[in-house]
Amino acid sequence: MRIYFDYNATTPLVPAVADAMSASMRDVFGNASSVHHFGQQAKAAIDAARSSVAALIGADPLELVLTGSGTESDNFAIRGAAEALEPAKRRHLIASAIEHEAVLNTLKALARRGWTVTLLQVDQSGILSADQLKSAMTDDTALVSVMHANNEIGTVQPIAELSAIAHAHGALMHTDAVQSVGKIPVDVRALGVDLLSLSAHKFNGPKGVGALWVRRGVRLQPILTGGKHERGRRAGTENVAGIVGMGVAAALAAAKLTPEAERLAALRDRLEHGILRAVTGTVVNGALTPRVPNTTNISFDRVEAESLLIALDLEGVAVSTGSACSSGTLEPSHVLKAMGFPPHRTQNSLRFSLGVFSTEAEVDRVIEVLPKLVDKLRNLTKKATA
Ligand SMILES: Cc1ncc(COP(=O)(O)O)c(C=O)c1O
Repeated sequence: MRIYFDYNATTPLVPAVADAMSASMRDVFGNASSVHHFGQQAKAAIDAARSSVAALIGADPLELVLTGSGTESDNFAIRGAAEALEPAKRRHLIASAIEHEAVLNTLKALARRGWTVTLLQVDQSGILSADQLKSAMTDDTALVSVMHANNEIGTVQPIAELSAIAHAHGALMHTDAVQSVGKIPVDVRALGVDLLSLSAHKFNGPKGVGALWVRRGVRLQPILTGGKHERGRRAGTENVAGIVGMGVAAALAAAKLTPEAERLAALRDRLEHGILRAVTGTVVNGALTPRVPNTTNISFDRVEAESLLIALDLEGVAVSTGSACSSGTLEPSHVLKAMGFPPHRTQNSLRFSLGVFSTEAEVDRVIEVLPKLVDKLRNLTKKATA
């Protein structure tokens, strides 16, 4: 039995998505910019997918720019807004310190080119406070970028409240909703944002396809220049099969959003409670609510998360740590670090993220194997330090 509890990293395609993509690859090869039948067939497929993605987030299809990933959407939102607002002399950008690298490294790149960047720390709840944003805003702030749901701990930020603050100072508001779209209701108008990023492979669609929702009237400087694709906002011949896959995945997600969220929350809670009960020295990182229903991030006292991840993998269970192993050194999770946790806590935490194929039997299997693995690792450390 192989168990995949790493849905926040990526999700498998559901069969209906794979089928629609295969059919599209086989039958729809035209260039959507061509005037003839073949081109128009591709354009119709893209338009249908665009409408379905728009419906999932309460948007007008014409406000969506289809992109090549969540990363590209984040880049386009931030670079595009920063550059478009440059003549207005607004050169200040704000984000939370728990954003994904797609946002953080884009801000770093802009900082090297002269923009001022403020990163807001969060407390141990993993939720940004409105007061913190208020005190960071200046008249030069061009854009505020705060993620909707965090990929490591799952906490959901008060985006509508934060948007109102950004707008009160004349700044634009972007949210990276890559980890919330398809998991919880996302409505661009209710969130009050100007820009929203999403990515198909986080909701059982294909990798390498995403979208940026751009509120009508918001000007962005394109980052990909070339033809007039996507109404001049994103040049490049469209990945028709990928876009079709995203459209079908969006329709499926929309059709079962609430029941699937309830099912996953029950499974996640069963897993979380089961682990906390069966393993001593465990605690959940971040606030329990508001949180996406599929995610829990748990700290295991006196355990190296990387070792536990490998031990679980050997038992057929795939999970993840927020820490990245770069050039042989273990980088602590920047999210847990920004939440103010001490080093040992940033390196002993595992993320379990569930999804469409997750079952109760899988949850129970993980609760069964974990205590033994944790004991074994703790005993090894005890011997090594004795
Ligand atoms: C919050 C968040 N933003 C952006 C991304 C990047 O999306 P993509 O993998 O489509 O580039 C991810 C992917 O892990 C993510 O979790």
